[in-house]
Amino acid sequence: MEKKYTHVLFLLNMILLLSYSNCIAQDVVYANQEIKDGSFLVSKGGMFESGFFSPGKSKNRYLGIWYKKISNHTVVWVANKDTPITDGSGVLKLSRDGNLMILNGENYVVWSSNSTLSVGSTNMVVVMELLDNGNLVVWNKSESSTDRRLIWQSFDYPGDTLLPGMKFGRDLERGLHRMLTSWKSPDDPSTGEYNDRLDTNGYPQTLRWRGEVLLARLGPWNGLGFSGFPIEGANGIYSAGIVINDKEIYQLYESKRSVVQRIVLTWEGKTQFFVWIERIQDWIVYSNVPMDICDSFSLCGPYGICSINNHPPCTCMQGFEPKNQEEWDASDWVSGCIRIKPLNCESGNVIEDGFRKLKGVKVPDTRRAWHNVSMTLEECKTTCQSKCSCTAYASVDIRNGGSGCLLWFDELIDTREYDANQDIYIRTNAPELEGLPGSWFKFTKRKITIIVLVLTSSALTLAYATACVCRNIIKRRHMKRRGNRYMPDEQKTNLQMEVLGDLQCFSLFEVAKATCNFNTSNKIGEGGFGLVYKGVLENGREIAVKRLSETSQQGLDEFMNEVICIAKLQHRNLVKLIGYCIHKSELILIYEYLPNKSLDFYLFDGTTSVMLDWPQRFNIIHGMARGILYLHQDSRLQIIHRDLKASNILLDNDMNPKISDFGLARNFVGHDTTTKTKKVVGTYGYISPEYAVHGRFSIKSDVFSFGVLVLEIISGKRNREFVHGDQKDNLLGHAWRLYKEGRSIELVNGTLQASCVASEVLRSIHVALLCVQHHAEDRPTMLSVVLMLVSEGVLPQPKQPAFFTGETHSEVQSLSSINDYTITHMVAR
Ligand SMILES: *[C@@H]1O[C@H](CO)[C@@H](O)[C@H](O)[C@H]1NC(C)=O
Ligand SMILES: *[C@@H]1O[C@H](CO)[C@@H](O)[C@H](O)[C@H]1NC(C)=O
Ligand SMILES: *[C@@H]1O[C@H](CO)[C@@H](O)[C@H](O)[C@H]1NC(C)=O
Ligand SMILES: *[C@@H]1O[C@H](CO)[C@@H](O)[C@H](O)[C@H]1NC(C)=O
Repeated sequence: MEKKYTHVLFLLNMILLLSYSNCIAQDVVYANQEIKDGSFLVSKGGMFESGFFSPGKSKNRYLGIWYKKISNHTVVWVANKDTPITDGSGVLKLSRDGNLMILNGENYVVWSSNSTLSVGSTNMVVVMELLDNGNLVVWNKSESSTDRRLIWQSFDYPGDTLLPGMKFGRDLERGLHRMLTSWKSPDDPSTGEYNDRLDTNGYPQTLRWRGEVLLARLGPWNGLGFSGFPIEGANGIYSAGIVINDKEIYQLYESKRSVVQRIVLTWEGKTQFFVWIERIQDWIVYSNVPMDICDSFSLCGPYGICSINNHPPCTCMQGFEPKNQEEWDASDWVSGCIRIKPLNCESGNVIEDGFRKLKGVKVPDTRRAWHNVSMTLEECKTTCQSKCSCTAYASVDIRNGGSGCLLWFDELIDTREYDANQDIYIRTNAPELEGLPGSWFKFTKRKITIIVLVLTSSALTLAYATACVCRNIIKRRHMKRRGNRYMPDEQKTNLQMEVLGDLQCFSLFEVAKATCNFNTSNKIGEGGFGLVYKGVLENGREIAVKRLSETSQQGLDEFMNEVICIAKLQHRNLVKLIGYCIHKSELILIYEYLPNKSLDFYLFDGTTSVMLDWPQRFNIIHGMARGILYLHQDSRLQIIHRDLKASNILLDNDMNPKISDFGLARNFVGHDTTTKTKKVVGTYGYISPEYAVHGRFSIKSDVFSFGVLVLEIISGKRNREFVHGDQKDNLLGHAWRLYKEGRSIELVNGTLQASCVASEVLRSIHVALLCVQHHAEDRPTMLSVVLMLVSEGVLPQPKQPAFFTGETHSEVQSLSSINDYTITHMVAR
């Protein structure tokens, strides 16, 4: 029996070895077989491949796993990352007892999986297999049945990449700690500086480390997402969750649709979520952690709250004051805040302490928090009340009104304002304060303090900007003063310094010289905030100079805002900012020069419109979508453009679109947040109803403008000037009517008839109509727009567009009186 078996196995081995000598890739390797450098193991469905490779410019050979099906061979796992082989002599061997080994030319074991079965059972077959989810597994399969037992799997030892289906966290029984570790550089997969670990000390949360320095914290799981980090809702492309039991504590990440995706801790210390877009054959970054300055761990110290909307970002929780006012005023927030009055329970006061509700937060560090998932919020409060050391409580799971109990027993660190339904209740000495509005504006020391602080900070900003000549000196001194005391990574976290450091500061003399003293013959445009000139620098480089007109309403704050925003943004579909110039009342921005003018130059003119054929227009639609997506989701700051229009879409030499004019952009963080603003800034014809009428803007207002732009690109007609026969429809209404009647194709501009591809046109119109729907919540996100444009799937039915006028709509009326090119008016609240 045993003999016969060995015989069979031998034969099998022979066959496999033969196939190997022919370099035929396959998905299974049996014991005593090997994979030589140059041979590959391919998963059954062909999704992944494993073998030896050299990353980037490196000549070293590593055994890795990468995507095979999609053309870009992105590596997702590396075995011998710290022990490369220097030549092509490496082999991967599977031993009889289930151990995986990589040997070099001298037969020296450079890497071993250290996984062995207790030998003894001879009637088992050890098999290595690359699965279609990217997991390299070794198991013993029984001779007779389909039974198998896992011996080892690469999913238990992640590198820098988390793939759907992987567990992230601890296996207490097996002593595994699955974490992400960055590469050293794109060419060097060896253990880099950063790692993301699931910390299981209190209530589990993911922490980002650089060596021993804690850099950032991805909040704990709250039932819907990670506190402080949004995950898409029901129509999302992935789901996540946490599993806590006696044996395991881990986060689970699963793909929801068959979208190819991965999460990577990059060598620069960012966690990026990538989605593969088949059509463009490239990865797009769906989200990034850290997102902004408030993600720097404990920026505002104990009992401080970080808010990206505030300037400066740190404030004390209500009932607290800066521990060291002087440091605090100098933007050094590390020592945080202390209670103004001691707690009643501490001072022997018989009055019970109360709790103050803080709405919309990323909860503080939970490394020492206690939790119980079956308690109610009321029980939670009672428990916290009864212990004087308990500083705060919150729900564990925020779904369905909240359940479970999280208790904090020490200083509250790393809290941030965050637009989500997560609340926390902070212990205060006042009896009952629940339900009072958020804390940060009601700073006890009166509003004047805040105003002074704000003023100081603006003055500081101005000082940085004007003193750019001695920028480096300031920088050095500044860093010295702050030391390493409160920010582990000064340069990374100090947004302004970093940004201004990258930008070129021009003197007025240089700018005047480049533009022939702002000669009118150099004028190339007139935007909402001033004139734009073409210029040529000494070195011959062409530039576009945007000069803030003296009458412009844009203040210094907005100017610096624009400078900081744009400088952070690097994307092929965004105009690049090169530098700036401040001189007395002159505020000037210097951009790359784009020779091909803006989109409106081509769209609405009979003679020039022939210069843009359909493929080019389709490319422009895609480019705009990706540029806006980047603004909304890829960058560290979420940017809402607020004034997307044809004249703000510039074209480069190859007619690729580049979005310009972020003067109106205001950055803030949050997921699908809406912010109310008094000042409506936008352009008639492109602005969404909720923004025009109520001053409410969100990323969905940009989606609306994008939809209008797409319809203009297809029809060659301006939305705001659209006249069609005796119908009162605007362009949106017209497109909607045609769509309803199944005649969408008639929207296409005459000059496009020869070059247009009906399926692409119809899809674009359909997507555009989804974007211009009346209700913001019906409109897709830009990510969905990008996905819809590139995929072939079925699209949802659009609802009626905004400003659809069978009869005159009151909203439209209020707008049509304002016929300026750009409107800026106040909306009463
Ligand atoms: C296997 O064990 C050796 C010796 O203890 C160790 O150096 C090596 O890092 C281990 N390999 C893995 C993949 O853990
Ligand atoms: C795998 O190996 C173990 C240990 O030798 C043995 O107990 C088990 O039955 C094997 N499993 C299968 C499915 O053959
Ligand atoms: C492949 O991916 C790398 C990094 O992920 C990227 O730099 C490169 O541009 C991609 N190549 C193509 C052809 O998409
Ligand atoms: C959690 O709370 C429930 C309900 O109050 C209680 O029955 C249970 O004992 C608590 N568990 C722990 C570990 O405290």
